Amino acid sequence: MTRNHQQPEVNIGLVGHVDHGKTTLVQALSGSWTDQHSEEMKRGISIRLGYADATFRECPDMDAPERYTVAEECPDGTESEPLRTVSFVDAPGHETLMATMLSGASIMDGAVLVVSATETVPQAQTQEHLMALDSIGIDNIVIAQNKVDLVDNDRARTNYEEIQEFVAGTVAEDAPVVPVSAGQEVNMDLLIQAIEEEIPTPERDPDADARLHVARSFDINRPGTRADELLGGVLGGSLVAGELTPDEEIELRPGREVEHGGQTEWQPITTDVRSLQAGDESAESVTPGGLLGVGTGLDPSLTKGDGLAGRIAGPPGTLPPTRETFTMEVSLLDRIVASSDDGESTDVEPVSTGEPLMLTVGTATTVGSVTSARDDECEVALKRPVCAAAGASIAINRRVGARWRLIGVGTLTE
Ligand code: GTP
Repeated sequence: MTRNHQQPEVNIGLVGHVDHGKTTLVQALSGSWTDQHSEEMKRGISIRLGYADATFRECPDMDAPERYTVAEECPDGTESEPLRTVSFVDAPGHETLMATMLSGASIMDGAVLVVSATETVPQAQTQEHLMALDSIGIDNIVIAQNKVDLVDNDRARTNYEEIQEFVAGTVAEDAPVVPVSAGQEVNMDLLIQAIEEEIPTPERDPDADARLHVARSFDINRPGTRADELLGGVLGGSLVAGELTPDEEIELRPGREVEHGGQTEWQPITTDVRSLQAGDESAESVTPGGLLGVGTGLDPSLTKGDGLAGRIAGPPGTLPPTRETFTMEVSLLDRIVASSDDGESTDVEPVSTGEPLMLTVGTATTVGSVTSARDDECEVALKRPVCAAAGASIAINRRVGARWRLIGVGTLTE
């Protein structure tokens, strides 16, 4: 099995309709879902935001696309050379998990849109996920036309044309469409080549303050552990800027809600970094890319059960403000995508004063009530505050029937 020798340097989202083959594709590219982290880390981070790392390699003596591989040995028996390690964030395809998809999207540098050749295009989440990528501005996209082993040539060609027609006018308009069979591991070399060409590692500023977006948090102690043997709380998330090293002090915002004198307020939490885990190894320092496990000095009862998910961490005094209200510029979609239940897509009505909205900002998801709605701007009062800078992107969801549905995107103005 391929082992990772490097920290992943780029996060690639796997998006697409349920059962179109996202998990199978990641398995084919990474060798395994498992063995990336200790059991606790793995259980903690991957369940809701599944992920796996893969090291792409090349056989220097071979031509493209055959030169691209994940195997350590080339067909001629020589050893392949590592190109880079990428981290796949597998966004769940089920429609009720849209919020998770959106919070995953905030840490994606590019995406692979998986479309099954066996169904007509687009299926509901194919459309909804592409809209989310479009709204959030992720435009480094590769389309994997999957399950080509199950269709004949004519169907594959018709499906290809359906895909082209569907992506016309979207961020994925120029994305390469690579026919693959994840199940049979066919054309994986072509897919790796397309990812290498279309989803470059973003340039990072080495001097920037660290910004850790916390997607999960957990308590890794086994029940019954003696108090003097308890390990501090663990944060799972992605560094979007800067560098983290053990012993460093960090602040988390919004921290926790404290009550005094009948009033509640949110106070930042300060702690220190005790250990870092990237890929399957502990690390002396970490830079952006991949999902990380950050051991801290926090009381594990705070981090248990995602208690600190949605927070941002960085050097004390450098974080954006904690906001209980904010104003955002709003850009609504034309239509809400049809779901398998209601069958039809509907027009998006303007936002109205008093209505509840579910807002995803970074990895934080919160419900806000609209206190003032104008044409392309609205003010919201949040049930739980968020830490966000002016200019942050916000995914806006409205309750339609029993579910929250994506209706547009906002930009935080103040
Ligand atoms: P969710 O995570 O539930 O959204 O599904 P998914 O998109 O991850 O799909 P998954 O990888 O679980 O695949 C769904 C089914 O399709 C499984 O039974 C796979 O074995 C099968 N499958 C995936 N890729 C291929 C393929 O290329 N060919 C064939 N024949 N079957 C495939």
